[in-house]
Amino acid sequence: MKENIYINDHPLIQHKISILRDKNTSTNEFRRLVEEIAMLMGFESLRDLPLCDVEVETPIETCMTPMLAGKKLVIVPVLRAGLGMVSGLTALVPSARIGHIGLYRDETTHEPHEYYCKLPDPISDRTIVVLDPMLATGGSAVAAVNFIKQHGGRNIKFMSIIAAPEGVKRLSEAHPDIQIYIGHLDRELNEDAYICPGLGDAGDRIFGTK
Ligand code: PRP
Ligand code: URA
Repeated sequence: MKENIYINDHPLIQHKISILRDKNTSTNEFRRLVEEIAMLMGFESLRDLPLCDVEVETPIETCMTPMLAGKKLVIVPVLRAGLGMVSGLTALVPSARIGHIGLYRDETTHEPHEYYCKLPDPISDRTIVVLDPMLATGGSAVAAVNFIKQHGGRNIKFMSIIAAPEGVKRLSEAHPDIQIYIGHLDRELNEDAYICPGLGDAGDRIFGTK
């Protein structure tokens, strides 16, 4: 794997992903787990956020101590399923700005179609974290990062809970400059471009639409 692709191996994340996969996991629990996994993955993927020393007066003395530096972080969920991960990231960085990109996969061609894009402006000097629980063919991820770059985004991290090798390859080849964080790398795609073993349709399981 390339050095900008991070495959998580934390036991807590692996355990929670296994519960997500179970077809008997309720919508309620599924939603809660997606949020928790996003927070745990976010903790790891934000370890390179810049810091600067500021002066703080403690009850004992005045000291220089590190705080987050630079412009506010931007979180960009890919609709719909990425929405389920947002609260996990805002729990870590409450001041983050939030953009939205709406994409759906055509059921026959599996290619993404855009229906919404609203991003903070300007975005060029901000760290951007794109959220989508599933990286399957990679079409949606590539399109989402394309939009962000067209709007001037440069420092981009992409976070998915489950990925297929095909999607990781497509995304990293199209955008070799971004960092890709994966909760678990699955085996392959099936003929309907679903991830195997996967967890089914993430949007439907988060929102209870099937
Ligand atoms: C799912 C998922 C990704 C996309 C991944 O969304 O949340 O956005 O599929 O597939 P890809 O890597 O092959 O592009 P979907 O299109 O089902 O829309 P939804 O979130 O609105 O259900
Ligand atoms: N989108 C999903 O929600 N699940 C898959 O397995 C593939 C794409």
